[in-house]
Amino acid sequence: MQDVLRPGLFAGKSVVVTGGSTGIGLAIAHAFKRFEADVHILSRKPEHLAAAAKHLAGAGLGRVTTHSVDVRQADAVAAATKAIGPVDVLVNAAAGNFPGPFDALSANAWGTVVDIVLNGTANVCRAVRPNLRSGASILNIVAGYAWTGAPGVAHSGAAKAGVLNLTKSLAVEWAPIRVNAVSPGPIEGTEGMKRLADDLGLRPAIEKAVPQRRLGDPDEIAQACLWLASPGASYVTGTCLVVDGGMDAKGPFGDLLTGG
Ligand code: COA
Repeated sequence: MQDVLRPGLFAGKSVVVTGGSTGIGLAIAHAFKRFEADVHILSRKPEHLAAAAKHLAGAGLGRVTTHSVDVRQADAVAAATKAIGPVDVLVNAAAGNFPGPFDALSANAWGTVVDIVLNGTANVCRAVRPNLRSGASILNIVAGYAWTGAPGVAHSGAAKAGVLNLTKSLAVEWAPIRVNAVSPGPIEGTEGMKRLADDLGLRPAIEKAVPQRRLGDPDEIAQACLWLASPGASYVTGTCLVVDGGMDAKGPFGDLLTGG
């Protein structure tokens, strides 16, 4: 077996990244471009897509194909994937969220987030399925609160838990297509962390709560995705790689025992 993560690893491979115009999704698109993939970004807002394409071109990484698509719209997703053609790697990074206690969420508010995160992921998987090449794999970006409760983001937590379960179901039903999840901890520059760390001034508390005592970099999530999509992970499927600086590992009494 060849060592993984060598230059040109994804040359000639077609990689689709939903939510790939900002945050973690953009870092993932950037990483696959560095390894010479043909990257297709699906995202809702044309201005974000244009900025992402400019950012990647400015980094000397060449062109990406962009598609302005809302993952909630199954027909639009199907049209975009038809235009893209064969796919080697699908990364479902599109998400939507707004914090609020469950009592403040209307049925429509709940449904909106579940529709983007869970139904959107299913829509894209369904549309891409006939185009998946031999050796293809799917990566779903979830969150640590897919396992725990998710106070303040119950809608997103329930949806991410659903995506985690879908990951396992498809890994079985679609084998040998590999389907895995990646679970980021608190990551620098994401909308959620901007709100918590910067707007609410919680940065020191968040850093203290992470055993590594820092927020993660979006590229640290992208590196995990590169490996999971690579031939080095050829027997890895139906699992979730947690990339969170040790948050998940510390358990309920971790803060008491480590001073976090
Ligand atoms: N608290 C409670 N309810 C909220 C809310 C909030 N902060 N923001 C929106 N809602 C409710 C709306 O009131 C509406 O429910 P209603 O019809 O009962 O009033 C429902 O959610 C849908 O809102 P709407 O604004 O029409 O949804 P949208 O489809 O236009 O946008 C998002 C949904 C998630 C895309 C939008 O909220 C958003 O842009 N969020 C921030 C960006 C983001 O999510 N980034 C990804 C982070 S993971």
